[in-house]
Amino acid sequence: MSIRRLALSVFIPLSVLGCGPGAERGASTGGGTLKIGEYSSLTGATATFGQSTHLGLTLALDEINAAGGIGGARVEVITEDTQGRATEAGTAVSKLVTQDQVIAVIGEVASSNSLAGAPICNEAAVPMITPASTNPMVTTDKPFVFRVCFIDPFQGTVMAKFAVGSLKLTRVAVLRDAKSDYSLGLAEYFVKEFTAQGGTIVGNEAYTQGDVVFTAPLTNLIAKKPEAIFIPGYYTEVGLIARQARELGFEGALLGGDGWDSPKLTQIGGASIEGCYFSNHYATDDPNPVVQGFIASAKAKTNEVPDAMAVLAYDATKVLAAALSTVATANPTAFAALRTGSTADAAAKRAARTLVRDAIAATKGFPGVSGTITLDANRDASKSAVVLKVANGGYQFVERIEP
Ligand code: PHE
Repeated sequence: MSIRRLALSVFIPLSVLGCGPGAERGASTGGGTLKIGEYSSLTGATATFGQSTHLGLTLALDEINAAGGIGGARVEVITEDTQGRATEAGTAVSKLVTQDQVIAVIGEVASSNSLAGAPICNEAAVPMITPASTNPMVTTDKPFVFRVCFIDPFQGTVMAKFAVGSLKLTRVAVLRDAKSDYSLGLAEYFVKEFTAQGGTIVGNEAYTQGDVVFTAPLTNLIAKKPEAIFIPGYYTEVGLIARQARELGFEGALLGGDGWDSPKLTQIGGASIEGCYFSNHYATDDPNPVVQGFIASAKAKTNEVPDAMAVLAYDATKVLAAALSTVATANPTAFAALRTGSTADAAAKRAARTLVRDAIAATKGFPGVSGTITLDANRDASKSAVVLKVANGGYQFVERIEP
């Protein structure tokens, strides 16, 4: 598709391109190349998610290749734009797996899109790591599918506890995105914990991704006199909802989850979103030198402070690279079958990818920028979350909650 090709040429530096000069460079290391796939929303309503993921992945690959690659092989990426849509995500992953024959896949961010790609990877025995999809179903019953982030039952609990414990709220309304698996799940887990803690959900309304007018659901909710509204959505709609809620006279806090994280949130929401809170995977004002070091290298590339997706995609790529290194050391014959152009038969290649899967599954205490990553039996990471406050057009760290 021409849009995809365009996105490719815009976002991928030549140094990580798989064909032409890249392949020659790989050959000159004597170790050939390894081809991985990435599917992300480089365009569309969640475009900053994909652009950030791509940044994080590229930063990781640049480091890996500058250090000599893996087992002497350069790592190359083929990137497909999902436009933020589940159907496109499915098509993109099918292409990566079938046509490009990638040995592993990184993506997607939005849970509904990962839910479209994950079964395809699992079926083809191609390990997939989603950097940021938090809906529990993404990895469920799919031995080849992993994530390096926490899941929504935890994230929903974090915000419910924060609402009750820190904000002392007792009456909250919920406005969710009926088209998003992420939003529906997170709303459910929030409601469960908030009511378990003695709070009352005074209203429940829905919108649909792509909506621009939210007056009807907001009017219904505001009439119930909530102290705050929990909006587990993505930044584009959340920014607009914040503006319209203020226009309708609502002065209480707005609360949300990681889907808020984008430089666009405050651009769209402006003053209306100031003082609101959301849960996230990392805080840019974390003094940890690992975090600040990552921010500095990302800023050197884009001039912007990276968001959570960049950090998580960087970590996902590094976890994959560590697993590939394990296979390169432990089983050079299997590793050779992973190299681009290997003449090993399909069964040998599948067996080699299964070894990569096993190595990813064994990830323990991996030092990521987003925190220490240990994958559990469900192939999910158990990690702390942070609560951030929107302040002065940016975010301020409020508290960290351990799992
Ligand atoms: N967790 C969101 C989802 O599953 C995606 C997301 C992650 C968005 C991190 C922003 C930051 O859909």
